[in-house]
Amino acid sequence: MDSDRNLPAMAIDAHRSLEITVDGELVGVDDETSTLLDVLRAAGKTSVKDGCSPQGQCGCCTVLVDGQPRVSCVTPVRRVRGREITTVDGIATGDVARWINAFAETGGSQCGFCTPGIICRFEGLRSRGASHDDRDAAADALLAHMCRCTGWQPVVDAWVAFPTATRVLRSAGASHRAELEGGSAQSTASDVAIGRGGFSDDTAPAGALVAALDTSTEEWVVAGTRAEALRLAGKVQGRRTTAEFSPPIEMPEGDWVQTLRTTWTEPGYLETDAAWCLPGGQPVSPLENGGAFGGKVDSDVGAVARRLADDHGHAVRVLYSREDVVRRGPKRPPLAAGVRADGTGLVRVARTAGIADVIAAAASGLDVEEVDVPGPRTSAAIRGAGWLEMAVLSAGLRGEVGWITSPGGGSATAAVAADGSIAVNVRCGAPLDETILRSYCIGAAHMGLGLVTSESLGVDADGVIHDLTVRSFGILRAVETPTINITIEPDDGQPVNGSDAVMAAVAAAAWLARGCPQDWPTG
Ligand code: FES
Ligand code: FES
Repeated sequence: MDSDRNLPAMAIDAHRSLEITVDGELVGVDDETSTLLDVLRAAGKTSVKDGCSPQGQCGCCTVLVDGQPRVSCVTPVRRVRGREITTVDGIATGDVARWINAFAETGGSQCGFCTPGIICRFEGLRSRGASHDDRDAAADALLAHMCRCTGWQPVVDAWVAFPTATRVLRSAGASHRAELEGGSAQSTASDVAIGRGGFSDDTAPAGALVAALDTSTEEWVVAGTRAEALRLAGKVQGRRTTAEFSPPIEMPEGDWVQTLRTTWTEPGYLETDAAWCLPGGQPVSPLENGGAFGGKVDSDVGAVARRLADDHGHAVRVLYSREDVVRRGPKRPPLAAGVRADGTGLVRVARTAGIADVIAAAASGLDVEEVDVPGPRTSAAIRGAGWLEMAVLSAGLRGEVGWITSPGGGSATAAVAADGSIAVNVRCGAPLDETILRSYCIGAAHMGLGLVTSESLGVDADGVIHDLTVRSFGILRAVETPTINITIEPDDGQPVNGSDAVMAAVAAAAWLARGCPQDWPTG
């Protein structure tokens, strides 16, 4: 059921009560209760992204206010009355070109959703005179940001590269490599770094109605503006929990030599599910730029946009909030597994379409039992789900990582040094574009390390999620991420996905380095 009780909410008083300067131009604001983010996006500044509003935790909406970085989603526009707002579009042409070059040179921007906000943050750092050799200063500045793609290191590299970066000409195979690694078409054009990757919610026609989900009724509420739709949907700010939750599936007693229990984890993509549609048309996909680590494969936003556009005879944008993604989006299926010395064993996994086949293909000696666990929806499409845990268990049994091959065909091995740094070797056919491949591999290494050591989602015995903010997922921050060195093995064979194997190899190396504790995250 949907509600149109609020239409038309787009009618706005012609009286403009305050003005701000945005990238050198005066912008009149109709509604003083709006956030700066809402005003900027309504003014067409789509480089300013919404990854978590109004949580203020992802940094994607960061802009400069009188030259200082500020998170716009928690900034009431009345607080910046008469102030000078600079988005990435308003940064001096020569400087923005150097940022574009720096991010292209280092692979510091993949999907690019986080990058415009990070560039604004780095501009603030630059204005304070920070040295471009100071990697720690850059990592500290990134504390206000989230990036799920790059593993941070290429972003810090971009800070270092800024003074000398020159224009990068992408190799012909760059897009192919990005698509192989991301699992979905992803632009590798240089303007991705300034937010022009072509995200669904950025391309919606001006004047499109906006739909938001009322979580108490599961009804979509349609209004003229995002702010109004959220207000009418009665969105209540989600929180994170300080409660401790154990992995939800128990292993029966047995003669296991190795056991592993995992918990719910969030894919953690930053661009929340979004789609739009014209009446009688086909919806624009939530996967326009990036694969979301398998998290949007069965997203309903496209179908909802089409239905609402037909119902209202008007273009409609459908956009999940961060809490909607947490509550409705699929998670990695938790499991509990035990392996005997002869390689036989048992895997008990949260009931998930297709997961038993994935596990059986990866670990033929193990019996697979699906169990019903109260909790969020799970998906076998989440990156590495099932087979990665089997590869890690197998490494634990052998006592070494060895070369791990992913279902996508790439192979990798990894080692954790005494200082915590991680060395990775990857083989995945012709690299096509080494910068892009390296960036994806570092991002995958960061994800594999986090999966083992820090990532989880608090879900209680009734299946209710208690971690609803983007900072709740345990994603490693830049200052917590060790140095990751990627060696790309020479190979001129058929290019295949390499980063999934890297994620598994780093997960195995991290687990072995910690002595193979039973429960993830190990802490
Ligand atoms: S959208 Fe503002 S911090 Fe995430
Ligand atoms: S490049 Fe940072 S979230 Fe995708």
